[in-house]
Amino acid sequence: MEIKTYQANDLLLLRRNVMRPGMESFEDVMYNKDDHPSAIHLGVEKDGKIIACVSAYEEYNPDLPNQTHYRFRALCVDENYRMQGIARKLFDRLIEEVINKGAQAIWFTARTHLIKFYNSFGFIEYGEEFLIPNSCMHIKMYKVIK
Ligand SMILES: CC(C)(COP(=O)(O)OP(=O)(O)OC[C@H]1O[C@@H](n2cnc3c(N)ncnc32)[C@H](O)[C@@H]1OP(=O)(O)O)[C@@H](O)C(=O)NCCC(=O)NCCS
Repeated sequence: MEIKTYQANDLLLLRRNVMRPGMESFEDVMYNKDDHPSAIHLGVEKDGKIIACVSAYEEYNPDLPNQTHYRFRALCVDENYRMQGIARKLFDRLIEEVINKGAQAIWFTARTHLIKFYNSFGFIEYGEEFLIPNSCMHIKMYKVIK
């Protein structure tokens, strides 16, 4: 499985279909730091189509120690390719990439049913659960690198 880097625009279709199934608009899956210089967009292609992706960019979180914080966004795997370990490989690679860029902590908002998956990478949940409109219950998670 080859993981490649992309531009955010390349990932919008998969993000929309996976994160907001049934919605026509791309608005909810376009992030204001998608084109930030620190942004990293990773994906996996099958037969010329992107079937998995995940993104990250530098975003300070005042709840965390240190200064250089990366936020992860939109881990998505096409429903036809799930439970084959693709998300785990993408997430491992993204962690490695942001550490190489100097990340001192990583954070994101997680769907609560995936807490155990993220715990397995060393991420810890914190704060109250909250509902994201058009989606489901979420909770913040973090990991301090150094
Ligand atoms: C969540 C998602 C990215 C997982 O992708 P995947 O490639 O099927 O995941 P993997 O095969 O790498 O599985 C990773 C682990 O997560 C677990 N997992 C996968 N889907 C899960 C689910 N819906 N609920 C709970 N655990 C799940 C697997 O059991 C596996 O655990 P293991 O490594 O201990 O066996 C994929 O189901 C998806 O795109 N879902 C919709 C979008 C989404 O929820 N994104 C995350 C937002 S926080």
